[in-house]
Amino acid sequence: MRTKIVAGNWKMNKTYQETKALVKELKHAVKEIELDNTRVVIAPTFVNLQKASKMTKNSVIEVAAQNMHQAASGAYTGEISAQMLKSIYVDTVILGHSERREYFGETDELLAEKVNAALDNDLEIIFCFGEVLEDRKQGNHFKVVESQIKHALFHLDSAAWSKIILAYEPVWAIGTGETATPEQAQEMHAFIRELVAGRYMSDVAEEVSILYGGSVKPSNAQEIFSKNDVDGGLIGGAALKVEDFSAIIAAI
Ligand code: 13P
Repeated sequence: MRTKIVAGNWKMNKTYQETKALVKELKHAVKEIELDNTRVVIAPTFVNLQKASKMTKNSVIEVAAQNMHQAASGAYTGEISAQMLKSIYVDTVILGHSERREYFGETDELLAEKVNAALDNDLEIIFCFGEVLEDRKQGNHFKVVESQIKHALFHLDSAAWSKIILAYEPVWAIGTGETATPEQAQEMHAFIRELVAGRYMSDVAEEVSILYGGSVKPSNAQEIFSKNDVDGGLIGGAALKVEDFSAIIAAI
């Protein structure tokens, strides 16, 4: 059975003090939820990762980084390596978020390098991709998603896929309040699973968790998560409020 995952991407939000308060509240809240084959992940900013990692040590909550550099070490001012993440017991990293692609110029080629560096250090990857509104309007969304996945991930062998979680995040639905309909999400997720099955064995495709991200909130989570090929969500804004995030976890 595929693992279900609800992950919160905190983006550039929450100070150290706010992070401590939110993690504490969240730890209490998740205790009340029956987690059936479901993982709960939070991704605070780099400066708050170690604290969050320590605070969640004996809890079901896992901690992920939002990004990392592709090099092992060196003269890359302001950057963080995979090994540094591992050294503070962070085992998962988000790569390819549309905000990294748009504001920091991350390309599929660069992301392939980051993917390799993460895997070399035994990090699990939540790999994000998704089309912009113009692509969807022109009917190019499948082509765009196919190209993003192929260029960044299809050089991997099938064994590496046990460390990959996919996250479909249509850019037009991120932070806009506009969510893909459950049918649109299911249609794309089924397409992605077929794409993976075409390149690898079907068991790789069957096993890979595919998350949906883009304005998921308590009011729409259950309907989206009920779709066959939707294995959970990558949550932005609603992950910053404990009531909302726990309601979304409970919805799965
Ligand atoms: P929102 O849930 O705020 O739309 O953000 C989604 C997202 O980008 C998660 O990575």
